[in-house]
Amino acid sequence: MLSTTLIDKLNAQITLEFYSSNLYLQMAAWCDTRGFPGCSSFLAQHASEEYQHGRKLFTYVMETGGLARVGAIEAPKADFASVQDIFDATLAHEIAITAKINDLVKTAMNEGDFSTFNFLQWYTSEQHEEEKLFRNIVDRIRVIGPDGKGLYWIDKEIGKMGKKDG
Ligand SMILES: [Fe+2]
Ligand SMILES: [Fe+2]
Repeated sequence: MLSTTLIDKLNAQITLEFYSSNLYLQMAAWCDTRGFPGCSSFLAQHASEEYQHGRKLFTYVMETGGLARVGAIEAPKADFASVQDIFDATLAHEIAITAKINDLVKTAMNEGDFSTFNFLQWYTSEQHEEEKLFRNIVDRIRVIGPDGKGLYWIDKEIGKMGKKDG
């Protein structure tokens, strides 16, 4: 059985993963209307992954006898300055999520809840991969620059990454 503290923190994380999903879906819509189909499909695909992260946590809370709860999900920002602005925001968001996962891991460890600690290892490595993925995209955008041709190429590349890395 999970402690009340862990149930609350896991439920907060569930809500945050669903928020991440909505945020990336909203970013996909922005990219779609601005003529960046590659970025749009990459972000929409990533939105599905974030939803699955939330569902995986949701199932875990249910399996351990706690009441899984979806909290209020804030509407994500819908307007962005550029593709670079979007991906800078995704990287900052992923870094903030990593801090939340680290806090969850620390709490499970401090409580001696090794089942939850073990379960969270998946999130730890997943977050490492996600930070790496978004940092890679941000770096590429910086190198290529914001001119029209560069953006066209970036969109194609990011579209391919979506298919490969997800
Ligand atoms: Fe996630
Ligand atoms: Fe993520």
